[in-house]
Amino acid sequence: MYTGFQHLHSFLAYLFLAVMLAAVIHYIIALSKKKDFGKASGLLAVTGLSLAHLQLVVGIVLYFLSPLGFANFGADAMGESLQRLYIVEHPLINIIGIVLITIGYSMAKRSATAVKKHKRLLIFYGIGTFLILLRIPWQVWP
Ligand code: HEM
Ligand code: HEM
Repeated sequence: MYTGFQHLHSFLAYLFLAVMLAAVIHYIIALSKKKDFGKASGLLAVTGLSLAHLQLVVGIVLYFLSPLGFANFGADAMGESLQRLYIVEHPLINIIGIVLITIGYSMAKRSATAVKKHKRLLIFYGIGTFLILLRIPWQVWP
């Protein structure tokens, strides 16, 4: 159970980061060329959002299965940077990143023009992904 969720969370991380990178590049090009909000723009937005939400659910389950998550919560582990990353920094910062991505999607959906939609998605997906990249356990992954 633990190993399965660990592998799923690691696999989804590749997929999520690849889609977010593609989305950010796509929105930069779309904005600079003043393109319409076409099929690709919408598909990248909804795929990125779904992967973020799926990763959130898998991450929360993993937090309670992993010996590095909730089970390790305590004063001793807080003093160790990698252990603190798993217990608080990674979950907290990544949840904030996912919330920003969701806000961006929601705002873009309600925006009237292609420029506004692309701009909101670029800003919120960009900042959300940047935050998530800051708190990936790079010492052990990929
Ligand atoms: C989009 C958001 C997220 C991304 C891209 C992400 C990515 C990753 C990556 C790359 C690892 C290392 C995997 C490995 O060592 O093979 C990891 C580990 C972990 N993540 Fe996330 N994560 C995200 C969100 C979350 C959230 C929201 C939680 C919990 C609430 C969470 C909990 C964990 C835990 C507990 C581990 C350690 C698992 C273990 O090796 O025992 N993650 N995450
Ligand atoms: C803790 C679990 C979850 C929470 C709190 C959550 C929350 C939300 C919220 C607040 C929105 C609204 C965004 C908007 O304004 O349009 C949304 C949309 C969405 N979520 Fe989640 N979600 C969760 C899990 C999932 C999962 C597991 C998936 C499936 C992969 C998913 C896929 C989607 C999709 C596709 C949309 C966009 C719907 C649309 O087109 O408007 N979510 N979610």
